[in-house]
Amino acid sequence: MNQSKYLVLLFLLLISSHAFALEKPGKAAIASAHYLATEAGFEVLEKGGNAFDAAVAVSAALAVVEPSSSGLGGGAFWLLHRNTDNKSIMIDGREEAPGASHKDMYLDANGEVNRDLALHGPLAAGIPGHVAGMVHIAENYGRLPIKDSLAPAIRLARDGFAVDEKYVRLLKPVIKHMRRWPAGNDIFLVDGEIPALGALIKQADVAAVLEQVVATGIQDFYFGETARRLVAGVRAAGGIWSMADLAAYKVVEREPVVFEYQDYKLLTASPPSSGGIAIAEILNILEPYNIASRSPAQRVHLVVEAMRRAYRDRSLYLGDPDFVTVPVAMLTSQNYAAGLRASIRTDKATASASLAGSDDQPGGQHTTHFSVLDKDGNMVSATLTVNTLYGANFVAPGTGFLLNNEMDDFSAKSGVPNAYGLIGFEANAIAPGKRPLSSMSPTIVIGKERTAILGTPGGSRIITMVLLGILDFFDGGGPQSWVSLPRYHHQYLPDRIFAEPEAFSPELQSQLQALGHEVQVLKRQWGNMNAVMWDQRNGRVEAASDPRTPSGKAIVR
Ligand code: DON
Repeated sequence: MNQSKYLVLLFLLLISSHAFALEKPGKAAIASAHYLATEAGFEVLEKGGNAFDAAVAVSAALAVVEPSSSGLGGGAFWLLHRNTDNKSIMIDGREEAPGASHKDMYLDANGEVNRDLALHGPLAAGIPGHVAGMVHIAENYGRLPIKDSLAPAIRLARDGFAVDEKYVRLLKPVIKHMRRWPAGNDIFLVDGEIPALGALIKQADVAAVLEQVVATGIQDFYFGETARRLVAGVRAAGGIWSMADLAAYKVVEREPVVFEYQDYKLLTASPPSSGGIAIAEILNILEPYNIASRSPAQRVHLVVEAMRRAYRDRSLYLGDPDFVTVPVAMLTSQNYAAGLRASIRTDKATASASLAGSDDQPGGQHTTHFSVLDKDGNMVSATLTVNTLYGANFVAPGTGFLLNNEMDDFSAKSGVPNAYGLIGFEANAIAPGKRPLSSMSPTIVIGKERTAILGTPGGSRIITMVLLGILDFFDGGGPQSWVSLPRYHHQYLPDRIFAEPEAFSPELQSQLQALGHEVQVLKRQWGNMNAVMWDQRNGRVEAASDPRTPSGKAIVR
């Protein structure tokens, strides 16, 4: 190559690598599902912490004040973007199946799935990654000692927080299960009943566990006294954890799913989440349709047809990438999307059954998402979970926190739906040390003009909620609009569009039905999105918390 060609190439490389380089917003924003967690994050930012320290503070505070949704006994995906060097990484703190687990562990003598064992009590729990993830982020990406980032949560655990409407509403459906295991009752119930609004929930044991994290990092939780209490409590109640399981738990740093759509660069969750691949697949299918220019019915129809195909692939191909070969490159390629597009008709819904098997599933606010932007432009999009309401409803004596029931995110039996009506096959079968397939989709969309940080709880519907938020962002909407949008969802099976009450006008609903779609309008809304947007053109930073849950809080400062 002669010198001038070389210089042109170098110039082009420099331009392209800076095409998505961001300046600094000069302001910070945090949106989370609980005002005390948002404030905990700001406390740490104001102490000189960065977005990653704030993420540790918010994660720890949510674990204390929103035990229905995430906690030290659960797991999470934290998607980090560091503005200084454009590094993006997904911190995988997903739960892991214990060593004594096996493929058929939830099947009864007739080969049917025992849903109670998969959802309630210690056998439902995977080895938690929440604590290891926080320590990893603090040590590798934070600026402050973890003592500072955990201080607000320790204070909230020790001094207590006031019971709110959501705490009560989410406890009602599971109180009978909470009563089955006494260690949690003194903490989360009052005299065996749902506490009154405003009652103080104090968690001295959680404060002590967090103090040990400050003093020992992961040592106490995964190797020491807390580990011993967890294993003793789990085994005494019929579970199968061992000290070796806790000692073997490792946080994994994974490359996020990264792809471009029009002028945007999307960073989103990679396996063992299905979210990023599904979002990439859906957007790749949709890109040539230019849906913004189509009629409302055509737009919903095409989006639903893309959702259907992506959820089918989720059930067939996706699982823990450390155990199964996930064809990420194929599933996220334009060629593959073109093949799927070829089977879509604009005048008729495709029957899911013709592509290759539930009821109204709970759609939720258990599990939690927060979004952080600091004034230097570092970002965190994180979704944290104990799976269904108050996890497995089980506390190992002396630990103070609820364990997850993430084992139900595995496919307990091929083709049989889990709590979210999701089916799976071999790729997501249970195996020792394997991580269950997730739908959690923390996402960052970096544009040349505007950047979005978003995510939500909601089980199988997480992916489609994030997708609808992204599409609205592409159309020019901001966070207030993404979090409040009426939602619709299709997950391949059951073969129907689920819709929130306000999602479709009667006319739009009949047009969709005329195309052959079954539409089920649910009485309840779903999701709890927390989102941030930074407009690089004018330096504006906006944040919003889902109006469906009043306890959420978004602050820009
Ligand atoms: O990882 C997952 O996909 C589920 N455990 C998330 C659960 C959830 O979002 C519950 N909220 N409604």
